[in-house]
Amino acid sequence: MQLLKELCEAHGIPGREEAVRELVVRELEPVSDEIQVDALGNVIALKKGSGRGPKVMIAAHMDEIGFLVSYVDGRTGFLRIDPVGGFDTRVLMAQRVVVHADGGDFVGIIGTKPVHILSEEERKKNLEIKDLFVDLGLPASDVKKRVRVGDYVTLQQDSAQVGKLFSCKALDDRVGVYVMIEAVKKVKKHTADIYAVATTQEEVGVRGARVSSFNVAPDIGIALDVTVASDVPGAGEHEHVTKLGAGTAIKVKDSMSISHPKLVRKMREIAEKKKIKHQMEILPRGGTDAAAIQMTREGVASITISIPTRYLHSVVEAAHIDDIQASINLLASFLEVAHTVDYQL
Ligand code: CO
Ligand code: ZN
Repeated sequence: MQLLKELCEAHGIPGREEAVRELVVRELEPVSDEIQVDALGNVIALKKGSGRGPKVMIAAHMDEIGFLVSYVDGRTGFLRIDPVGGFDTRVLMAQRVVVHADGGDFVGIIGTKPVHILSEEERKKNLEIKDLFVDLGLPASDVKKRVRVGDYVTLQQDSAQVGKLFSCKALDDRVGVYVMIEAVKKVKKHTADIYAVATTQEEVGVRGARVSSFNVAPDIGIALDVTVASDVPGAGEHEHVTKLGAGTAIKVKDSMSISHPKLVRKMREIAEKKKIKHQMEILPRGGTDAAAIQMTREGVASITISIPTRYLHSVVEAAHIDDIQASINLLASFLEVAHTVDYQL
């Protein structure tokens, strides 16, 4: 869990994943035969198989949703920000952020007008990102000197264990990166060539996965990502999508990809045989790197293994420790038998 904590607390918005990439390279280099970083910043680590097995590409994205500084007010020192990835603006009020400037990091506050002086009208209005500003608590002249348009901004939140849950910002998708690293370390005998790919720019449209899967040209693609767990008060059981503590989720479909039916069946068979807790997932809205992998070259048999997560795209994203472990176990078990998978339709 120490590694998961480190991954989650690292900062990296789409296109600026360097801090996360450093951790991934540190972890994967010792356990792989070849490692490379491409022009978009994807880390591609190859662990060769013992035979002529299929090429299996695993993808987990390093980027987290965040912002870019879009305007520095030279008179007041307040910053305006432009989102990179989809935010629920309700969760942005009263948060601290980190502004990553060339000369170093600054902690800032996302400010809004206090409730005491809001008009009836303003109180009813939904907050938009254009209404928000970042307060660095510094004189305008200082801010102007040190912060530039284009500097990136992330939310600041420590990780915490909450009962059986692990909660942090950016669990989407650092927990996927963590599962990938741990599975690659865990896997013993495997015939298949394993390409562990830590991708970039997923949150702005699966861009890193698109180019890295072209490069790898896999036979089988497996994306690792979080999925909705809406097992909370106010949601009916039929709306849960997944449930925390009910195991790793084998994705059947989301709005950007339909998992390969033979991979779905294989995953389920392995989970049943090895007694790995699992649930089947259908997500009405959203997508993963599998969407890009499946449409690479002449098409790739693809699937997503999901880690059920509550409070997605907020700073308190939370996943169950047992589900994280189940995801590692299922992926490692699959990799060991990947050469037996019949993925021809
Ligand atoms: Co996301
Ligand atoms: Zn994600």
